[in-house]
Amino acid sequence: MASIAVYSVKGGVGKTTFSVNLAWCAATISRRQTLLWDLDASNGSGFLLNVDAKAKRSAQSVFDLDNAPTKLIRKTGYPNLHLLPADESIRTLDRQFHQIGKKKRLAKIVDGLAKEYDRVIFDCPPVLNEVSAQVMRAADLVIVPLPPSPLSQRALEQVVAEVKGAGKKHPPILPVLSMMDMRRTLHKETREAFPKWPMVPLASAIEQCATLQKPVGEFAPKSPAARAFAQLWTAIERKIAKG
Ligand SMILES: Nc1ncnc2c1ncn2[C@@H]1O[C@H](COP(=O)(O)OP(=O)(O)O)[C@@H](O)[C@H]1O
Ligand SMILES: [Mg+2]
Repeated sequence: MASIAVYSVKGGVGKTTFSVNLAWCAATISRRQTLLWDLDASNGSGFLLNVDAKAKRSAQSVFDLDNAPTKLIRKTGYPNLHLLPADESIRTLDRQFHQIGKKKRLAKIVDGLAKEYDRVIFDCPPVLNEVSAQVMRAADLVIVPLPPSPLSQRALEQVVAEVKGAGKKHPPILPVLSMMDMRRTLHKETREAFPKWPMVPLASAIEQCATLQKPVGEFAPKSPAARAFAQLWTAIERKIAKG
């Protein structure tokens, strides 16, 4: 089993969009048993997959349990793809982690999921706190979506610092250029500066994910956007295989 965090300290950079589309690639293209774990209270992943988180609200918090949070996991409309939605308890997660006082609480829960899942993908909130620290300790790989802007560059530096703080054996980071429009000078220059980073284009097909509540591979499988996510997923699988 491998766990992949989609993380940035910035909001609106494409984390949720990446998480949902990459989880769909894992489940559909690679046929992996995949769990998408939404750690952001806005529940964007659930929305994009058209899973109503409220339909089966449980009083139980994921992190109150000593067992794996299997009861809270929901099926999606796609084979091999399950969702652990964000519930109310997510708001107080930072405090809960501090109260429990176990640095690897989340990592332990993830270990417990290895029986059922091949891939766990975290849709992270844009925070720098105990929640992000726990995710960095649990993740095997950290994907950072970066729209081309000096602010994104700064966000990447903060992520690198956070990941390194996770411990001696910190997970590798894969920066991914997000919302790229090669007609724009800044975007072209960013591409030239980082030719090896994978890239996801600015695309109306990706915007449509939110109106259709579907991953792009479902409704526009041949679009450049769907191909970009498939290629990115292949690069991620390759990185995981290398260890
Ligand atoms: N490559 C893209 N092309 C066009 N729109 C995008 C792209 N990536 C994300 N968006 C849009 O940008 C907004 C923010 O994306 P989102 O994934 O919610 O970011 P985050 O989770 O980092 O806050 C959403 O409205 C989404 O539809
Ligand atoms: Mg989000």
